[in-house]
Amino acid sequence: MAAQIPFIDLQAQRRRLGASLERAITAAVEGGQWIMGPQVQAFEERLAEFAGVKHAIACANGTDALLIVLRAWEIGPGDAVFVPAFTFAASAEVVALIGASPVFVDVLEDTYNIDPKSLEAATAMVREEGKLRPRAVMPVDLFGQPADYGAIEPIVVREKLKMLCDAAQGFGALLDGRRAGAIGDAAGTSFFPAKPLGCYGDGGATFTNDDTLNHLLRSIRIHGQGADKYENVRIGVNSRLDTIQAAILIEKLRIFPDEMVMRENVAQRYSRALGRSNRIRVPHVIEGARSTWAQYTIQVPDRDRLQSDLKAKGIPTAIYYPIPLSKQKGYAHFPSAPIPVSERIAKTVISLPMHPYLDVQTQDRIVDAVLESVGHA
Ligand SMILES: Cc1ncc(COP(=O)(O)O)c(C=O)c1O
Repeated sequence: MAAQIPFIDLQAQRRRLGASLERAITAAVEGGQWIMGPQVQAFEERLAEFAGVKHAIACANGTDALLIVLRAWEIGPGDAVFVPAFTFAASAEVVALIGASPVFVDVLEDTYNIDPKSLEAATAMVREEGKLRPRAVMPVDLFGQPADYGAIEPIVVREKLKMLCDAAQGFGALLDGRRAGAIGDAAGTSFFPAKPLGCYGDGGATFTNDDTLNHLLRSIRIHGQGADKYENVRIGVNSRLDTIQAAILIEKLRIFPDEMVMRENVAQRYSRALGRSNRIRVPHVIEGARSTWAQYTIQVPDRDRLQSDLKAKGIPTAIYYPIPLSKQKGYAHFPSAPIPVSERIAKTVISLPMHPYLDVQTQDRIVDAVLESVGHA
């Protein structure tokens, strides 16, 4: 049997970083400031500079990054936050956790990102029903591609909403020269190991250009602290990025721009080869956008068959996401716009191995196996 291919090869990156990573970890351990040590601030500064945003605030994970912003905006019971139905649970979970109501919105068939028309329909529905106050929208940069902010921003302004961008998968992506992180009133990202910029555990960050919000986010992430550690001026959470993780991320951020180019090359090779089959829908990137290719996701008519054919050849795949959030047991009671696209694509999407270090031979093996299973027609 052919050798098993990894879905994401984090060890290849580990080998590339080699001794610099070990030195950074050792320095963080020996420095002894394991919580909020100097590496955390240094990383925040580099991260903000990279994203082209005034403030980057590190925290414990991407879920908290979103939660902390919603808390800072005092969103809560009676408030509606518009969230795509086709996303990872965390996007809607944080809305429900603070007592507000996620309102589900459909996505676009070709980009998997929030559909501006469905967003308009959902805001109109909520206003008409008069039960919830529309407060915010949370576009998600799914699979690494920025949402269509050019179309979303006018709706946000007209509806007087706040925009919190869930850039957990899209950190580093670009839209018309703006980086994910710098778009919206605030953004959140995740450094979960499998993310394009990942650490060796959990981690996350929020971003904003708003000085007041920056101040609030920094307070909320450490128990609502005031000027002093033991002055608590609001209810907060405990959500800090570990010093060791910050040290690791400083090293990984150095090679991130190069890795983005490598990811782009892998994605383009996939699309050139697989796009020849009219049974495969390859990802579409909107004009002016650059994806970070957190996932390379295609649509095929018989997804289950493709998955088992590839598995038999040692090629792992993943299904992101098999059930739209608004159809999940935990979320089915929240309001939703009609979501025909989310329901349809949940049955056809399949993600292929994707990482910067996917070599040409391995990629050819994957492409051949996909074409053999799906057909060339
Ligand atoms: C779209 C999206 N939002 C939020 C998160 C939450 O990030 P974390 O796992 O770091 O809490 C993830 C992580 O998988 C995600 O994919």
